[in-house]
Amino acid sequence: MAFLDHHKTLERNATLLLGASLVVVLIGGAVEVVPLFYLENTIEHVEGVRPYSPLELAGRDIYIREGCYTCHSQMIRPMRDEVERYGHYSLAAESQYDHPHQWGSKRTGPDLARVGSRYSDAWHVQHLSDPQSVVPESIMPPYAYLSNQLLDGEHIGELMETNRFVGVPYTDDQIAQARADFTVQADPMGDTDALLERYPGAHVANPDGLPGVSEMDALVAYLQVLGTMVDFSTFTPDASR
Ligand code: HEC
Repeated sequence: MAFLDHHKTLERNATLLLGASLVVVLIGGAVEVVPLFYLENTIEHVEGVRPYSPLELAGRDIYIREGCYTCHSQMIRPMRDEVERYGHYSLAAESQYDHPHQWGSKRTGPDLARVGSRYSDAWHVQHLSDPQSVVPESIMPPYAYLSNQLLDGEHIGELMETNRFVGVPYTDDQIAQARADFTVQADPMGDTDALLERYPGAHVANPDGLPGVSEMDALVAYLQVLGTMVDFSTFTPDASR
């Protein structure tokens, strides 16, 4: 048969076979990958998920700078032991504004995807400053110096613009108010109405109790929002998609 004769040519020529296989794999790969870029529901929209507030975003950068991800993951897998320990399994939408995401692959310490509001601010400051003073057997290193390093938020608007460039839907208003929002979130005596309107549920606090916005304040603001954006008492996965 003519068709099989053609195939014989292909099978007898290793280079040709390799080239043809590559073409087939590329077409198959494209068919799987390309739709993900334009389908609207690749990431299910979930009520409550919002971009990080300026202070949370700054805290997230400190989390990355300090390499917290080398010991902590932020991804709860849908397995019973994980869900019982950490809470509802992580949704894709919950890390949709993370650039880069912090899922991690190492759990020397516990997963942090839902650590938000599990401990008080004072606990976090004490734990980050001297982990062994709260968990004697801990092998986590101390980060006390974060309280001494002040942030002025000068470039926070630019950081948000960079995030917008890669797809985070920050509005012009949010970027214009970035520095004000950054400062007021660490000031419980301040007027936080506008901040909370722009970033519902933002945790307003001055965790280290010292004047000014320290790296500690930013990091704790970030830790306290982790996993708190979605209300899992009302969340139901959208099975129709
Ligand atoms: C060398 C590994 C290591 C590094 C690096 C590390 N941690 Fe930890 N972390 C641990 C371990 C182990 C624990 C569990 C014992 C404890 O609570 O101290 C822990 C616990 C925690 C907890 C409490 C979690 C819970 O559910 O009880 C938080 C919050 C935390 N770490 C945040 C951080 C942050 C933020 C950083 C980066 C500034 C960081 N860790 C860096 C090892 C690490």
